[in-house]
Order: sequence, then structure tokens, then C-alpha cells
Amino acid sequence: MPTACNVPSRTIFTGDNLDILRGINSECIDLIYLDPPFKSDQSYAAPLDSEAKGAEFDDVWTLDDMKEEWIDEIEYRRPALFHLINGAKLSHSESMAGYLTFMAIRLLEMHRVLKTTGSIYLHCDDTASHYLKGVMDALFGSGNYINNIVWKRATSHNDPNRYGRILDHLFLYSKGPNPCWNLVTTPKSDDELLTAYPSKDERGRYRSADLTGAGTSNGESGHPWKKYNVTARGRHWSAPKTGQYAEYIEQNFIPGYREIKGIHQRLDALDQAGLIHHPTKGVWPGLKRYADADAGNPPQNLFVEPLGFTNYSTKGGEYTGWRTQKPLALLERIIKASSNPGDLILDPFCGCATACIAAEKLARQWIGIDIAPQAAEVLKDRAKRELQIPMAEDDSKSWEDWSPLILTAPSQRTDLKPDFPANPRSEKELMYATQKKRCVGCEHELPLHVLTIDHITPLSRGGQHVISNLQLMCHTCNAIKGNRSMDYLRQQLQVRGILADYLSF
Ligand SMILES: C[S@@+](CC[C@H](N)C(=O)[O-])C[C@H]1O[C@@H](n2cnc3c(N)ncnc32)[C@H](O)[C@@H]1O
Ligand SMILES: [Zn+2]
Repeated sequence: MPTACNVPSRTIFTGDNLDILRGINSECIDLIYLDPPFKSDQSYAAPLDSEAKGAEFDDVWTLDDMKEEWIDEIEYRRPALFHLINGAKLSHSESMAGYLTFMAIRLLEMHRVLKTTGSIYLHCDDTASHYLKGVMDALFGSGNYINNIVWKRATSHNDPNRYGRILDHLFLYSKGPNPCWNLVTTPKSDDELLTAYPSKDERGRYRSADLTGAGTSNGESGHPWKKYNVTARGRHWSAPKTGQYAEYIEQNFIPGYREIKGIHQRLDALDQAGLIHHPTKGVWPGLKRYADADAGNPPQNLFVEPLGFTNYSTKGGEYTGWRTQKPLALLERIIKASSNPGDLILDPFCGCATACIAAEKLARQWIGIDIAPQAAEVLKDRAKRELQIPMAEDDSKSWEDWSPLILTAPSQRTDLKPDFPANPRSEKELMYATQKKRCVGCEHELPLHVLTIDHITPLSRGGQHVISNLQLMCHTCNAIKGNRSMDYLRQQLQVRGILADYLSF
């Protein structure tokens, strides 16, 4: 069940996204776009004369980034991820393992906050893409991988002694089997139209499409129509009766077209309406399919536009100086395809808030997070400029009405039961809260680290390692219980009078 989000829309947090993500309710976000550091081994700083002045971040990684508490948590929550990171340490470098640890601990939270119908786009380049794909598979499940979108961000790049690197990758995953998907087509270019619709009549460009289907038929569709003997050609007549083009014909040329029953009647009606192309050469007629009815090209996993920013192209003032800024049009494509108006979009590495501005333009709700305090100011500047939100106090759509919430501290989750830790990060922490910090056997209140996990129905008797079959016990109780029942344990505790001196074990 999705929960209501505890963070209002139009909130921008400036702070480390790990803490902020841990304060967001589970399963309340519809779409996440993240454009994290790519492990470029560079530091980025905005030019001092730009809108983003002062914004900077380091994209340099070492073994120090494999923080022990993060590694422990990753191992506890996703053992596969833990092994993957260790593998990367051996096969690539300690620096890659440090980077992946930083990413994995945050992606764990992103997975948690995403609705089961939600989608996530992870933007990266080929420095770490192959390892990040593994991280995403381990977290979201390889079955929820949808696409690797390749974005051509520049027309050329001068890279000495190798091919110019002009491509970014966006991995698209869903959390569950039914993610939001809107078919957003792009109109065909003039060249594409000329190739796809080579003929022309007074109505416009068209192509002649086959009016027959494979195989012969003994019914009406196998009988000759006009001078054409379809059976002799080993085929049968077939003219669209349902679908988009049949609807187009009915709306524009032949009222009631889709009601016409017989195939010969349909062919006659098409012919009378001038919709059949009779070739002067060759013997076969074809249905005129007009370019006018073309729905455009479905989206492909290669994005060749919009291009990214370069030193010499600032896209009519869109560029803020944030060195890693992405074009609004790129974010708009993603948001249109994978969310609906009113949905809540999260960008945990929002930089100069491109995703937030795009979401606002498309009537979506949004939350942005960036570690750089400048992000909030740049967002406000961009909102005034690009969303034309006026500052005038007497204007009905004033800045005050719109004003985003700027926060630096994480929010408190509201989807947890009382007594639960604010941000439980492991099953053990959750159980500790549920058991009110006590051993389920001797019932003594104890620190978390002396309690161990016990399977209520032992694994050896078919019990499973799922939260409903787990409980926490002190070492003594666990040793006494072994593979036996809770009744046995309680009886033994009484017989042995162990409650008084259990701590000596
Ligand atoms: C590649 S940029 C994102 C650019 C953004 N898509 C845009 O269009 O402006 C990465 C951003 O991540 C931010 N960042 C780095 N580490 C972070 C962290 N731990 N928490 C939040 N933001 C972080 C940086 O300040 C930087 O703005
Ligand atoms: Zn105990």
C-alpha cells in the first residue's frame, strides 16, 4: 500500500541526501531521476560569475568511502549488493568500491521510498555504468530492468588516443511489474516523411500499403475483386476494419466505414473515396496511407536530442553555470513518459533543480535534494525566469503563493508505529522496537548488540528467514532454546531459575 508522503511538494532540501532520504516515508514517490557524481575523478566548481557561483562537489573516491556502517547495512539488507561491491574492489579498484558503496547505501533508500508502480532513471556515463547496472540489478531485480537509454550529449569530443566520449547512459528500472508508461511519440522529420510516404495526391503525401494478407481463402476474401484475382496470387483480401487507420478513414472520408461488413463492400467504398492506389505499372492495388495520419515515431532507447550544454552553447540562457546541468527538454521527455500529472517526482542529486523545474512545468509534484546550499537559490532564480512566476506582491500568482519550502534537516517519517526507531535500517532494528528492547525469552531489557536473531520455527523444521518468523533473544535464551519451541524455553527458564543470573553467561 502506498503511503502518503510526509514531505510536501515543492520542497528542496540542501544536505546529504542519505539523511534526507532516510526521513522520507516508504513507497510514496512515483518517479525518481538521479544524476549523481559519475566517478569522474574530478572536482566541479561553478564559474564565479555565474548564477550557480559557489556550487561545487568532489567526484573523487577512495577506500575511505566504504564506511563500515554502510557496508554492514548493505550486507544486512542486500547480501548480493555486498558481494558485488567486494567483487568490484577486486576486479576494478578500491576507488570503484568506495564509489559503489556511496551509491548503494543511497539507492537502498530510493528503492524503499519508491511506490511499487514507480520507476527510476539512473543517469551515469561509462566510467561506472557497468558496475552500476549490477548494483541496480541487485537492488531492483534484473526482471525490473527496462532500458539502457543512451543519450548523445555532444556532437563530438576531443579525447586523445581514443574515440571521443559523447554518450551518457540512463538505466530505467521499475519497482514492480506495472510501472507508469505513456507513449510519447516524436513527429517524423521531413526526410523521414519523404521516405515513408513517397507518393502524393491532392490530399497530401501517402504510401501504397498492401491490401492482401498471406494465404488463400475459400470465403469472400478469396474471390476476385475487379480485375484482380487474389487467390491466383496465393493471398486473400485484407483492408483495415479496426485500429487507428480505420478510424482515420471513417472520420475523414467514409462515414460508417468500420460498420461495413463484407470485404468486397469495404474495398468498393475505399475505391469510391479515392483511397485505393491503382498502379499504372504492376497489377496490384494498394491502400493509400496518408502521412497526415502518422502518429509519429515511438520513443527509442537512443536520445539524439536535446544536446547537452557546451562552453559555446547555453541554449538561450537556460545554462546556469552549474557544471553538470542537464537540459530541461531531456527531463521533460523522461517525466512525460514515466509519470502522470499530479505524480510526485524525486531528484536526490538535483543540482540546479532541472528536474524540479521540468516537473513544475508538467504539473507534477516534486522534491529536490542537493548537498550544495546554492541549489535552493538557483531553483528560485530559475522559477522566476523559466516558469515566469512574478515577484509582484499584488499579483494573484505571486512568488509568495508559489514559494518552495527550503529545508536543511531531514523530515520525520510518519509511516512508522510509535516506539519504532525514526529510520529503521534493518530487520533487527525493527524487531528491537517491536519487542520493546526486550529478549522474548527472559524478557530482560538489553542493548541491541547482545540480542541475536532466532527463527520462531527453526529453519531445520521448514521455517523461513522472513520477518514474520524472526525474533530477538539474548545469547543464553537462544542457546537453551536451540531448535526447540518457545514453550520449552519458558519451562527451562523457570526450572533453571535463570532469570536472576542470566547476565553471567
Ligand atoms: C551531476 S550533478 C546533478 C546535476 C543536475 N541533474 C542538474 O541538471 O543540474 C550531481 C549533484 O549531486 C550533488 N551531490 C553530490 N553528493 C551529494 C550528496 N551526498 N547528497 C546530495 N547531493 C549530492 C552535487 O552537489 C551535484 O549538484
Ligand atoms: Zn533472554
